[in-house]
Amino acid sequence: KRCTAIVLAAGQGSRMGTKIQKQYLEIEGKPVLYYSLAVFEQSDIIDDIILVVGEGQVDYCRREIVERFGFAKVDTITVGGSERYESVYRALRVMEDNGLKTPNQDGYVFIHDGARPFVDEQILARAYEAVKKHGACVVGMPSKDTIKVADENSFAKETPDRKYLWMIQTPQVFEVSLIKEAYFRLMGEPCIQVTDDAMVAEQMLHAPIKLVEGSYENIKITTPEDLPIAELFVGLRKRN
Ligand code: CTP
Ligand code: MG
Repeated sequence: KRCTAIVLAAGQGSRMGTKIQKQYLEIEGKPVLYYSLAVFEQSDIIDDIILVVGEGQVDYCRREIVERFGFAKVDTITVGGSERYESVYRALRVMEDNGLKTPNQDGYVFIHDGARPFVDEQILARAYEAVKKHGACVVGMPSKDTIKVADENSFAKETPDRKYLWMIQTPQVFEVSLIKEAYFRLMGEPCIQVTDDAMVAEQMLHAPIKLVEGSYENIKITTPEDLPIAELFVGLRKRN
């Protein structure tokens, strides 16, 4: 079945605090966004890519990312919204409205943070196997730290058993019909705090979501201390 990747790059990067948004910062001479697009471009699993960028960045991205690096699988560059879930919703609408050269109605969609440059082909392959079997999966890793739930005054309330705690990453991969249904319902409901796509499928459809192993390198570039780590990972990969 057809596999479309939605790569999200419409965020403001407020926690990074740099003048240039974090997805455009360069690591070893290439923008953060380049690295994940290159993995999807080179993967045999992925057929096409929808790139979601900020208002006014479409032309810049077409020129400086898609054309510069020859990403032929990028079918559409679309404008995102002010929250991540709105950016995802807009990309799903593009799939719905024949915004793609060939619409993807009954295949799979890989939703990925453009701020996660270290996704790799093995992760895509594990997620692809899981989505074929279960219809929905997200990649993540077992938490290395103990996680506590706090009360309003920052006192520890609960300590969930670490063996059941996963740090969730992207890609999050779904049957197209399932995730469209979930997001279209979400837009009809007011005020639900959404931090990832699986949550939408869980809450709107009570869909079972399989957890798949990502990697500890598959970090999201979020705060300034992530940048030297990213430089290191790129350097290590170049040497291998
Ligand atoms: N994203 C998006 N549209 C938004 C918000 C986020 O496409 N309205 C994307 C970001 O570009 C990023 C991914 O979703 O690739 C994960 O979001 P996050 O790490 O929170 O990025 P930002 O929202 O840019 O950062 P911050 O929350 O610090 O402002
Ligand atoms: Mg954000």
